[in-house]
Amino acid sequence: MPSPDYRLAAAPAEHTLLAVILGEGETPSAGFAKLDKALADDVLAQLATLGFKGARGKTQIVGRPAGLTAAGLAVVGAGDLKTLDAAAMETLAAGLYHAVKASGFASLSLDLSGFAPDVAAQAYLGLQLAGYRFDKYFGQAKLDKAPTLKTVTVVCDDPAATEAAFAPLAALRDGIMFARDLVSEPANVLYPQSYADRLKALEGVGLKVEVLGVAEMQKLGMNALLGVGQGSARESKLVVMQWTGGKDGDAPVAFVGKGVTFDTGGISIKPAEGMEDMKWDMGGSAAVVGTMIALAGRKAKVNAVGIVGLVENMPDGNAQRPGDVVKAMSGTTIEVINTDAEGRLVLADALWYCQDRFKPQFMIDLATLTGAMIIALGTDYAGVFSNNDQLAERIGAASKTAGENTWRMPLPAQYEKQIDSKIADIRNIGGRPAGSITAALFLQRFVNGLAWAHMDIAPTAWTNEQRIPSVPEGATGFGVRTLNQLVASYYEG
Ligand code: BES
Ligand code: MN
Ligand code: ZN
Repeated sequence: MPSPDYRLAAAPAEHTLLAVILGEGETPSAGFAKLDKALADDVLAQLATLGFKGARGKTQIVGRPAGLTAAGLAVVGAGDLKTLDAAAMETLAAGLYHAVKASGFASLSLDLSGFAPDVAAQAYLGLQLAGYRFDKYFGQAKLDKAPTLKTVTVVCDDPAATEAAFAPLAALRDGIMFARDLVSEPANVLYPQSYADRLKALEGVGLKVEVLGVAEMQKLGMNALLGVGQGSARESKLVVMQWTGGKDGDAPVAFVGKGVTFDTGGISIKPAEGMEDMKWDMGGSAAVVGTMIALAGRKAKVNAVGIVGLVENMPDGNAQRPGDVVKAMSGTTIEVINTDAEGRLVLADALWYCQDRFKPQFMIDLATLTGAMIIALGTDYAGVFSNNDQLAERIGAASKTAGENTWRMPLPAQYEKQIDSKIADIRNIGGRPAGSITAALFLQRFVNGLAWAHMDIAPTAWTNEQRIPSVPEGATGFGVRTLNQLVASYYEG
């Protein structure tokens, strides 16, 4: 839910803060060059005294120099204008949004005259992603303290061509925003049933959506997933989404998400401090949903399946106990040593079901799976684990293009012994060493040899501070851009 209104136009809005781009060394963009000569000289002199040299990403509001018809002027530094591609423009525009959102101006017009439609379109995306806020639980007083900016206009040479270039990005935006909304919701509002209801409504965007309840999952033998949810008053669900934009009979690409709507740890209960963060333990599933929305929204020429396992990990009298043994759908028995290692139990059955039913080209699962991933990579990188070098390389390349940081991790067979069990086929934890890797090795037992990758997004699903201008504080929607790019680059047509 972007809070300001956004539009594309051939001219700036009325009573607006006009933003123009200036390259380093006082290189004017076409928009800057439209300023009256005396006014431009005055502005350059002011900038010089402020020490503003046009470094990329620096925004300077210069107030209202004489002769300006707009309500105010902001100058956005672009660095070397020749290297300002669409991705860099997105970041620049998003940075501009933050620099002026609380400046008191109600309207912003970014003049991108002279820039190609795809560049203007991506600036438009950046402004919208930067403007994301989850404010549905704010009362009027807090809403009134919100950013002063109410409308944002991107001024471009050809609004119709820019609009056309923006169409696939609008689909991507919708996917990211939907994912951010899901992740932001508290667990009393978003639980398996209410989550499934929201997904059922996505039939409106062209997805086929099926919801499996406990009875159906029992029939399928999904005892690993069901064991996690059995201590909750909320019924577990498995939601299957399908997009069929490819050729009839072409094997689909498949995405599988961990959707633990709240993770108390179960009987192996977590400490109180920070437990509220576990409302976003469904971030992997949100990325899968967002990807499906993006693919459907831009009518991607691919067949795609998205499967999310929705459960709440709670410790009631019926909860699973440490030491319990469950038999997964695959037939593998699992000793549940720690009920807090629940994500892998959910994914075990979701992954097996996915490959068994859909025979996809590959499966990628996304999950806020381990705290150890944050210890290993910090909060700026998600880990990628894969049994297939080509798939891993493609994910790496797609994430780079998409501007999401990922790093490949190893899957060494010699660590398998850490998840061996004395009473069952495997156990659900592998001890402290390499905690994220043994979690991935556990998942690998349920992919039946299919090309597969696991993305541990525990580090990146949520951010306590804005790190990238187009990703504000809070729910990030991480993963949607990478998966959408992966499909666009390698699996369409
Ligand atoms: N959802 C957590 C992982 C997590 C932790 C995500 C912090 C985001 C932030 C997961 O279910 C979990 O509890 N993992 C345990 C595994 C352990 C019991 C082997 C962990 O990381 O401590
Ligand atoms: Mn857990
Ligand atoms: Zn969890």
